[in-house]
Amino acid sequence: MADVVVVGSANVDLVLPVQRIPRPGETVLASGLTRGPGGKGANQAVASARAGASTAFVAALGADDGGALLREALAGVDLSLVQTVDAPTGTAIITVDADGENAITVAPSANARLELTPEARAAVAGAKIVLSQLEIPFGTVQAAALAAANGYFVLNAAPAAALSDELLGHVDLLVVNETEAEAVAGTKLSALLDRVPAAVVTLGADGAVILTRGADEVRVPAVRVEVVDTTAAGDTFCGVLAATLAATSTTARDLTNAVRRATVAASLSVQTAGAIPSVPHGEAIDARAA
Ligand code: ADP
Ligand code: NA
Repeated sequence: MADVVVVGSANVDLVLPVQRIPRPGETVLASGLTRGPGGKGANQAVASARAGASTAFVAALGADDGGALLREALAGVDLSLVQTVDAPTGTAIITVDADGENAITVAPSANARLELTPEARAAVAGAKIVLSQLEIPFGTVQAAALAAANGYFVLNAAPAAALSDELLGHVDLLVVNETEAEAVAGTKLSALLDRVPAAVVTLGADGAVILTRGADEVRVPAVRVEVVDTTAAGDTFCGVLAATLAATSTTARDLTNAVRRATVAASLSVQTAGAIPSVPHGEAIDARAA
């Protein structure tokens, strides 16, 4: 049984480097085109495994070369719960500008078919930490949250969406960036605690803030780095957070330490291009943190 179970998406990323992200109606020329493995779920599963946790991935792939590319990239992750479905593997078009900012469009395809099978439900029920995002059907996220009722359910509410109390009622820890936080609870970050018992809001180059009901907020600064590509920074953060919580505990003190480690890992990931290729290994994270 894996300590961390990630229930989420897997995509082939088509990355287009541009000077400037096009405005509506505008056409721009990219300086190249690369094809690589990604998707929030896949990125987070790899980040968790590289950070040292036994990690299983519940996902849906097509029977195509995109699916094969992802299986290869997910080395080190238990893929016995990955479903092959009758749809193409999900695809993301990622436009990255000269400052490393990105704009992303996702075709969910196979990800839209992901269901929580009885085997996946059992793995979720037995995990220490269950981690999910919103690139898969809401019903599947909800089913995972319910199945994780005796464990610790971490929801990375990305991409941004308004969420029901029915789902948030099962969330132990919400992880969001500022845009996603606003979609869940408005511009006042403390309002997140009206909806979930604890939340981590990532703040890009400003690091992250931890909000816990009945406690003071804790700010964790980012590491200062040269930004190359922020793709998968949030995913690295979530995967490393889950792996570190699984190795320690979910007490306030261990949560703070896990957020520190996740922040270092995410800062390292923005120094390297791509999604999965930019996810650091535990040794690199801990060398930087020391
Ligand atoms: P997302 O990529 O999901 O929008 P953020 O931009 O908040 O999320 O980034 C997630 C984490 O990645 C941050 O908490 C931080 O640790 C790291 N990070 C992102 N951008 C930078 C940056 N410019 N410098 C250093 N760390 C960064
Ligand atoms: Na990111």
